[in-house]
Amino acid sequence: MTLAQAMQWAERAGLQALDARLLLLHLLGRPHDRAWLYAHDDQALPPELIAPFQALCERRQSGEPLAYLTGEKEFFGLPLRVDRRVLIPRPDTETLVQWALDLPLPSTARVIDLGTGSGAIALALKDQRPHWQVSAVDASADALQVAQANGQALGLAVHWQEGHWLAQTQGTFDLIVANPPYIALGDAHLAALAHEPQSALTAGAQGLDDLRSICEQAPERLAGSGWLVLEHGHDQAQAVRALLHKAGLQQVQSRRDLAGIERCSGGRQP
Ligand SMILES: C[S@@+](CC[C@H](N)C(=O)[O-])C[C@H]1O[C@@H](n2cnc3c(N)ncnc32)[C@H](O)[C@@H]1O
Repeated sequence: MTLAQAMQWAERAGLQALDARLLLLHLLGRPHDRAWLYAHDDQALPPELIAPFQALCERRQSGEPLAYLTGEKEFFGLPLRVDRRVLIPRPDTETLVQWALDLPLPSTARVIDLGTGSGAIALALKDQRPHWQVSAVDASADALQVAQANGQALGLAVHWQEGHWLAQTQGTFDLIVANPPYIALGDAHLAALAHEPQSALTAGAQGLDDLRSICEQAPERLAGSGWLVLEHGHDQAQAVRALLHKAGLQQVQSRRDLAGIERCSGGRQP
C-alpha cells in the first residue's frame, strides 16, 4: 500500500483528507512535514504501520479529537503535548493571551493562570514575556503533570501549583487570567466534547459558577491597578461584566475574538 493509497482508504472510511494526512505523518514520525507527504505519496507505507494507521482512523472516525490521537496541539506558536487528562487548547483562547500581552503591566509583572490545563496560557505568556513571574494553578493533579512536562520540554519556567482557584496561592498579582469551565450542565454542546475531561468544561446550571468564584476571590489578590481577564462563553459577556462590576473592578470591558464574538471580559483593580 502506498501512502497515497493509505490516504484514499482513510477517506473512503469517512475521514477528512487533512485528518488522514496528519495521522499518517504522525505515524511516520514527520508530524510537521505536510510538504514531504505531497512529494512522496508514491512511497510504500511500512507494513508494520498499516494496522496502527487503520486503528487511528477508526478512533478518529468515532469522534476522538485529532489532538489526542497525535498527542500534540499548537497554541500561540508553541507545540504542546496533550492527552485525555487536559482540555485541548482552543484558538479562541489566543484572544485572552493577546489581550494580556496588550495590557500596561510592569516589566516583571506577577501573573497567575487559574485552571491551567495543558499550561497553554501560562506558557504562552512566559514565552512572550520572559521577565514576567508566571504561576499557574489547577485543581487536577493529572492536568498539572501535563502542564509541567510541557513547561520542561519548552524550557519555560512557570511555577505550577495544585489548588482551587486562588485559595492555595500566596501574595498579590498584577494580572490574573483564567479560562475556567463555563458550559452549563446539560448544554447540548457537551455531547461533542465527550472525550475531554468534564471537570474542565461544566460549571453549574448557567455555566457561571466558576467565573463567579474567581470574580469573588480576585479583588483581594490583585495588586493596585492589577487586571483580571477571563475567557467565557459566547453568550456570557454581559453576565461576566456584571460579576466584574460587583467585584468592584473598574474599566470593565470585553474583547471580541476573530469571529467578532465577545469572548473575554476583564476589569482593573482601582
Ligand atoms: C476550560 S479548562 C482550561 C484549560 C486551559 N487553561 C486552556 O485554556 O486550554 C479549565 C481548567 O480548570 C481546571 N479547574 C476546574 N475547577 C478548578 C478549580 N476549582 N480550581 C482550579 N482549577 C480548576 C480544570 O481542571 C481545567 O484544567
